[in-house]
Amino acid sequence: MSDPYAATAGAYDLLNAPWRSAQVAALERLRPLLRPDAGPILDVGAGSGLNTAWVLQNLPGSQVVALEPSPAMRALSLSRIAGHPDWYERVTVRPEDFFAATLPPRLGGAILLGVLGHFDAGERAAVFAELADRLPDGGAALIDLQQPERPEAVPAATMASSRVGELEYRLIGEAIPAGGDRLQWRMTYLGLDGERVLTEETTEHIYHHPAPAVVADEAAAVGLGMERLADTTYWLLRRA
Ligand SMILES: C[S@@+](CC[C@H](N)C(=O)[O-])C[C@H]1O[C@@H](n2cnc3c(N)ncnc32)[C@H](O)[C@@H]1O
Repeated sequence: MSDPYAATAGAYDLLNAPWRSAQVAALERLRPLLRPDAGPILDVGAGSGLNTAWVLQNLPGSQVVALEPSPAMRALSLSRIAGHPDWYERVTVRPEDFFAATLPPRLGGAILLGVLGHFDAGERAAVFAELADRLPDGGAALIDLQQPERPEAVPAATMASSRVGELEYRLIGEAIPAGGDRLQWRMTYLGLDGERVLTEETTEHIYHHPAPAVVADEAAAVGLGMERLADTTYWLLRRA
């Protein structure tokens, strides 16, 4: 079975670093709305476990259910957790995707970072309905709507680069419109010794880029209000 995130996992945290401080700022806005007493915090598409770890570190007594279908990304999550035996009783990393997993009946909050674009309109509606059903009154989920805001072509450009020792890790991204709200992204991950390419892996994803107003209407249909945080990337979905 091929893993569409295998190439991404290679240097995930290094290449995610330019966005990390904005993600943490958004998590800080979510924090006072999280209700660990009401149920576990659901991390959908937990990736390398950055946000799962943030909850475990910052919300003492909380439980986390992390969903991560990619074996390569899930391995990163489990490696992060492995260094913290005190977390083992507090976190479950499930290999099912959102629609295959049995979700906890009640949630204390949810985090969906870097994942909403994997869902089309019908899937988003289903995800929002499941969240609305399980969040407590006033409970919240953090989402991001990734740039570009409209599904327009993105020319090839270095999106992130990081040096560790003698080698550089570089991400080159580009996208072409694929109809409707969809972009076809092509991500190339390079491992470089100077200008010599040691490793090169490319992966392609279809990603949805719905307008914020469309997503707000979908959320409102199941009783979730949508509030913008910094720039147009991060939003809170909140149950009345
Ligand atoms: C860009 S990564 C984001 C990882 C992490 N949330 C972060 O912010 O660093 C998107 C993740 O969503 C996962 N994913 C894709 N489709 C999914 C689905 N239907 N249900 C759950 N996770 C999914 C992928 O395997 C991938 O690890």
